[in-house]
Amino acid sequence: MTKNKNNQPVWKTRIKKNVSSLFQNVGGSIDVDRRLYKEDIIGSIVHVEMLFKQKIIPFKIKNKIVFGLQKINNEISKRKFKFDKKYEDIHMNIEKRLFEIIGDDAGYIHTGRSRNDQVITDLKIWIKSANREINAQLDKIIKTTLKIAEKNIETVMPGFTHLKNAQPISLAHYFMVYIEMFTRDKKRFNNNLEILNESPLGVAALAGTSFNIDRNYSAKKLGFKYLTNNSIDTVSDRDFVLDFLYCISVCSIHISRIAEELIIWNSDGFKLVHLSDKIVTGSSIMPQKKNPDLLEYVRGKTGTTVGNLFSMLTILKGLPLSYFKDLQDDKEIVFKSHDTIVNCLKILNEVLKNIKPDKKELYKLADASFITATDFADYLVKYHSMSFRKAYQKTAEVVNFAEKKKKKLKDLKIDELRKIEPKLTINVLKVFDLKNSINSKKSYGGTSFENIKRMILKYKKSK
Ligand code: ARG
Repeated sequence: MTKNKNNQPVWKTRIKKNVSSLFQNVGGSIDVDRRLYKEDIIGSIVHVEMLFKQKIIPFKIKNKIVFGLQKINNEISKRKFKFDKKYEDIHMNIEKRLFEIIGDDAGYIHTGRSRNDQVITDLKIWIKSANREINAQLDKIIKTTLKIAEKNIETVMPGFTHLKNAQPISLAHYFMVYIEMFTRDKKRFNNNLEILNESPLGVAALAGTSFNIDRNYSAKKLGFKYLTNNSIDTVSDRDFVLDFLYCISVCSIHISRIAEELIIWNSDGFKLVHLSDKIVTGSSIMPQKKNPDLLEYVRGKTGTTVGNLFSMLTILKGLPLSYFKDLQDDKEIVFKSHDTIVNCLKILNEVLKNIKPDKKELYKLADASFITATDFADYLVKYHSMSFRKAYQKTAEVVNFAEKKKKKLKDLKIDELRKIEPKLTINVLKVFDLKNSINSKKSYGGTSFENIKRMILKYKKSK
């Protein structure tokens, strides 16, 4: 039976000297992995229930252990638990306290398992619910974005390529890009659940165990559908951590792209969107300033999330099988990335609730350039049986002409247009209207008002 007398680590019989205080400070992970206490206790309760079911431990001891674990759960949740760095991590801290509460029978808890399978069981359970929590935040942003879209179906703006005016579009269509991005993120997080559904519990240190355990029983009780297949792989594998960090990174990149865009739109050069006072900060020296700090904050946090993904990739690179202390850092990285993304999603949601697109400025910008040139070329193809390439050249001539005359396309007279293409009739002039242009883009996924209304409905129904 494992002894844990005099508050000593369990390996005291073998390792006679106290670990150097230097190692105690750096080697412990209790400050980080204490967050896993609930998962650890549930995992342990299920483990001892399985041990009892398999007649590996007696009923009375099982009950004592479960009682002790429940007491510990209570103590930790009420902040009455004293975590001690000397016991390295959450697993050993709980085990040590169990000895204090129920005495030497606590020594049966670690039969047929190791911290190596214990820690990944905890972490997998934790990440599973973290995926769901992040998706709930994403749902909130999608809802907020839908509201913006509903209010702006007929708000005209220039769509950009290369940040140069390209074609007129609806502002709703533009913002609904966020819905697409975040819906993809949701799918990505959901996809993780499949791999997270494999229970690691019972592979023990790396080789499996000689006890007649029932891994299926523990898996089912802990909400896992399947079992991992190879004990060595199981304790070495952190792919599920990479998957989670990757999903967070992509989501973070989306947030940064949106933030960057809104920062540009809010800049004095563009003035396309107003940010309410709730989401800006001032300058210590320039009294006139209202800075989009929150947007900059979330854009900057991509450094953390993407950096964390690379940290984990680098930890795993070249790491031989199976468990090494290197792996311990996974939790710090996971928690940091998780907290960062949840925070950024909350901030972005708040920002989106507090922005006001400037419809006049958006229209003015759309109207300022030759943004309906493509519509004119399409018209020539449809009504004057030209190839698109020929129509493109004719249109370029029209644009050159308008530029020379310092006129907008819509201000050109039909006679001026006829000098370039004699067959044109007055009918052509409607192609220069911005709303006509938008409404003509009826192909699936295009910006026509009808399409947008249908899309909004589709997303509302899918809620
Ligand atoms: N705190 C450890 C970690 O997170 C638990 C596993 C310890 N295993 C070991 N063989 N030292 O990695």
